[in-house]
Amino acid sequence: SCPGSLIVVSNRQPYRHEYADDGSGTETAADAEGTDSGSADESPDERSIAVDEPAGGLTAGLDPVVQQANGTWIAWGDGEADFDVTDEGNCVTVPPNEDAYTLHRIDLSEEAVDSYYYGFSNQALWPLCHEFPDLIEKGDGDWSNDFAWYRTVNERFAEAVSEHATDDSVVWIQDYHFALAPRMIRQRVPDGATIAHFWHIPWPTPQTFAQCPEGEQILEGLLGNDLLGFHVDRYAALFLDCVEEFLADAVVDRDEQLVRYDGGTTRLITDAMGIDAESYDQDARSVDKEQATSLLEQYDVPADTTLALGVDRLDYSKGIPERLSAIERVLERNPDWHGEFTFFQKATPSRTGIPAYQRLGELVRSEVERINSRFGTDDWQPIVYTEEYVDHENLCALYRRAEMMVISPLLDGMNLVAQEYVASNVDGDGVLLLSDRTGAHERLGSATLTIDPTDTDAFASQLETALSMPATERRRRMNTLRNRVFDGDLESWMGSQFDEIRRVHTDSGPDD
Ligand code: G6P
Repeated sequence: SCPGSLIVVSNRQPYRHEYADDGSGTETAADAEGTDSGSADESPDERSIAVDEPAGGLTAGLDPVVQQANGTWIAWGDGEADFDVTDEGNCVTVPPNEDAYTLHRIDLSEEAVDSYYYGFSNQALWPLCHEFPDLIEKGDGDWSNDFAWYRTVNERFAEAVSEHATDDSVVWIQDYHFALAPRMIRQRVPDGATIAHFWHIPWPTPQTFAQCPEGEQILEGLLGNDLLGFHVDRYAALFLDCVEEFLADAVVDRDEQLVRYDGGTTRLITDAMGIDAESYDQDARSVDKEQATSLLEQYDVPADTTLALGVDRLDYSKGIPERLSAIERVLERNPDWHGEFTFFQKATPSRTGIPAYQRLGELVRSEVERINSRFGTDDWQPIVYTEEYVDHENLCALYRRAEMMVISPLLDGMNLVAQEYVASNVDGDGVLLLSDRTGAHERLGSATLTIDPTDTDAFASQLETALSMPATERRRRMNTLRNRVFDGDLESWMGSQFDEIRRVHTDSGPDD
């Protein structure tokens, strides 16, 4: 458990309140405390409000921990009805009807969202950290406005933290949206509070980091943390390289994995995040085997096809076009598989306001169409591509059904989908093809079929290996994968994060 009173900071919130059209909402605005109807066009009292369940690895994983700790969670309130249910301090207790902890929502203007979220976070830091410097897009190259908003939003989160922090607080910041916040929080909270941060995406090389607008301030901000976590050693080492190269006054101690700067000490830790493997396992076991078949039927996929699966956010870091090229190569080389094999790609539209994401969507859709018209027949399409929402149950059904899962990022901090597939593959005979440029590959690599996403021929050969792999070998590999995913699950990751936090928390406590 958490050694102090826990305050989580993340951009995405664990619960979102929306207006429901059909009256199926769990509460009405009139029921909710602190109703502020002033901002809505029609009286919200007449519309019912529905709560979105936590979605995604991080928020879903942290939610039970914050519940157990009766903590506080600070996040961007991006739901339409979010501020109709909060009190004057923008807080609401969640989960709905359970009131386990306080969710403090930050209200961001459209301009703030444009510049902080779409701008600096996702058009500067995201491409930079994923080694796509060419995608750092700014018409005139002037980042000052976006960076000013990034700073302002970080400040607003830091202010919110200070409203809740005590001498015993553990502030746990998530990800790249808050590189400046740690130092700001440090200045606003009592000395005994501990500040920890987990950076969920890769850290770039110094050569790439040199192109970071305001890079020095990013590093200084992060060195306001007591603890800074990465998924794998390589990212932590690159962070230290950047500190050495770009912050003249910082002292780097590689043996101890720490940095001394401006009177403070930041310890680095590396630990790959896991998933709640047990719950994926159970959910996959409880789905009816027919469910995958009927889902595939909706997409005109033959029930007995050999199925390869891709599940990603529609993001240029995921290597989706490279994956399609490899599938095309397999189809060229193996006429025998025509009609027998289907690649099902589920892509979730993401950050669609950003041109690079729009271009990627267009490219992927047109490639799918081209390959399908090249090889498809009246009753068989080699690639099924959907951007539709697939619910958790259907996703587990697909994971369980698919003979192979193809994960080919060009760079990915971790990749939790790889683990979701393994945990859901309860029949134990699926094959995982995994890019060695993912954090997940560090732990799972030797039991996967390793992919270099940019080498189309070698990638296609790995797909062919998967297609012809004997059952005994598939089972042997999947067994190893399942052991690793269950051993390094979310609970064990949380446990080791809190152990590290406890060490620092005790060191810096009031008695020190
Ligand atoms: C990555 C990031 C998360 C982020 C998620 C979804 O996994 O590390 O911080 O929440 O992508 O992206 P979005 O921009 O929709 O939050």
